Amino acid sequence: MYRTNTCGELRISDVGKKVTLAGWVQRTRKMGGMTFVDLRDRYGITQLVFNEAVDKELCERANKLGREYCIQAKGLVQERQSKNDKMETGDIEIIVNELNILSPSLTPPFTIEDNTDGGDELRMKYRYLDLRRSVVRRNLELRHRMTILIRNFLDNQKFIEVETPVLIGSTPEGARDFVVPSRMNPGQFYALPQSPQTLKQLLMVAGFDRYFQIAKCFRDEDLRADRQPEFTQVDCEMSFVDQDDVINLFEEMCRMLFKEIRGVDIPKPLQQMTWHEAMRRFGSDKPDLRFGMEFVELMDEFKGKGEFSVFNEANYIGGICVPGCADYSRKQLNELTDFVKRPQVGAQGLVYIKYNADGSIKSSVDKFYSQEVLQGVLKKMDAKSGDLALILSGSNANKTRIQLCSLRLLMGDRLGLRDKNVFKCLWIIDFPLFEWSDEEQRLMATHHPFTMPNPDDIPLLDAHPEQVRAKAYDFVCNGIEVGGGSLRIHDTKLQEKMFEVLGFTPERAEAQFGFLMNAFKYGAPPHAGLAFGLDRFVSILAGLDSIRDCIAFPKNNNGRDVMLDAPAALDQSQLDELNLVVDIKEDK
Ligand code: AMO
Repeated sequence: MYRTNTCGELRISDVGKKVTLAGWVQRTRKMGGMTFVDLRDRYGITQLVFNEAVDKELCERANKLGREYCIQAKGLVQERQSKNDKMETGDIEIIVNELNILSPSLTPPFTIEDNTDGGDELRMKYRYLDLRRSVVRRNLELRHRMTILIRNFLDNQKFIEVETPVLIGSTPEGARDFVVPSRMNPGQFYALPQSPQTLKQLLMVAGFDRYFQIAKCFRDEDLRADRQPEFTQVDCEMSFVDQDDVINLFEEMCRMLFKEIRGVDIPKPLQQMTWHEAMRRFGSDKPDLRFGMEFVELMDEFKGKGEFSVFNEANYIGGICVPGCADYSRKQLNELTDFVKRPQVGAQGLVYIKYNADGSIKSSVDKFYSQEVLQGVLKKMDAKSGDLALILSGSNANKTRIQLCSLRLLMGDRLGLRDKNVFKCLWIIDFPLFEWSDEEQRLMATHHPFTMPNPDDIPLLDAHPEQVRAKAYDFVCNGIEVGGGSLRIHDTKLQEKMFEVLGFTPERAEAQFGFLMNAFKYGAPPHAGLAFGLDRFVSILAGLDSIRDCIAFPKNNNGRDVMLDAPAALDQSQLDELNLVVDIKEDK
């Protein structure tokens, strides 16, 4: 037997027991004739004691143990003289009488402690060591627990877990596909699923009625803290349901998770906000409701009321009132201006009005506007003395709102208003069915091409597609889109119309989606569904800054696995077998 107990379970009631423990050396301390070793495993840390006076040779061997050696120790549980109430096992220690080195260790490249000295890349390269740190391990334990809770919840609701293939054809969801060459079909490629979207719809046609899958998804897109090229969805689909049925059921699942994992009761029912309202009030389809600073539209207050051409020519002028920041220095205000002018934000400039504590008003545009105009603006913004009004303008209302949203979130961070232990969830509904893509110069499906238009708006599909609302909904928590879904089109004619508006020729629609359109000809039930991003859900409940921290082996921001050194070039023989020629263009 390698061990009788784990390193996390022995207590004062175990004193006098002979035990065998196995684990890793966290650290070794020599104090006089005594050597103390902290032995760690997944469950905790237990102190081992070696006494030179009792067994000199054994004690010398203990002194030679390096950090992260994997060892086995046999001995007697005894009460500690100086107890450590910070450790669960802090009342006891093991007087060791036998020590076996199971596996020595090189000196680890960083300390395996909660607060490590290792940088991101180094920890990624040695991820198996990083995973020995309890903070990282705990995230994976939480992920496991959430997965079990989700599976049980859905099983109780009669959902069936079905695995769908990973080698499939392209499933356009707005990102690029990862592709896999086929050796047996020269010149042809599989695509990895961006989600199991079409397959789960086929399962509804097949009559499965309630499907779920903890599914790996792959998207070749630019990475951020909440995006990985491969990630996991809790993917669900149901037949014979409307939007409220889906929202109610999954809201219940979320409520259960918040309660079980964090002991938090989220409101019942959750707030639902239309996409338009979210954009107008917060400049985002995933508003962070942990704090206020709602947008105040200032067109009437500014337009034509002064000589400031930027505002006079704008189609949108809006601001936020930042509490207690009227004392911001010129340097701080310049920093904010630089922030909004960064390419990632894209504003032209920033206007401020300080409502000073003494009641005076100071503004970057006071040479253009009278004090009365500025006072009117502050009144509209409900500003108190001591507050700072920050104002943006632009020709495109929604683009300007999105810029103002970045500023709002920055100020929320600065004022410490985005507390990780507070959870504000809501549903965003009534998304536009299409959005204009500057890159592609055409309308794209906001969600995906299978989303049902709002029946009231179907007559607008030809003349005003941009005004058509979708039967789509997102679950948002603390400014993060955790999940999203929609009612689906189950009518071949309507689906064909959708492809037409999206600019697909009938031939291309047939080539890409013929299988789905064909299936719809065989009695497709009305169906709807959604998918939660499991990595995002775990990281919110664990209070993490990046989803990487709850993924066992994540990729870095360049999409690389630095531990496996992937992606990598292929041997010529492999390329030959796949009939591939690599031709990297100079500018790449
Ligand atoms: P959507 O594209 O909105 O919908 O994705 C659903 C959820 O998946 C998560 N997510 C990601 N998480 C980490 N890294 C990524 N790169 C990433 N991309 C998305 C988000 C998101 O809310 N098939 C539809 C769902 C449906 O309609 O049923 C879909 O995939 O949390």
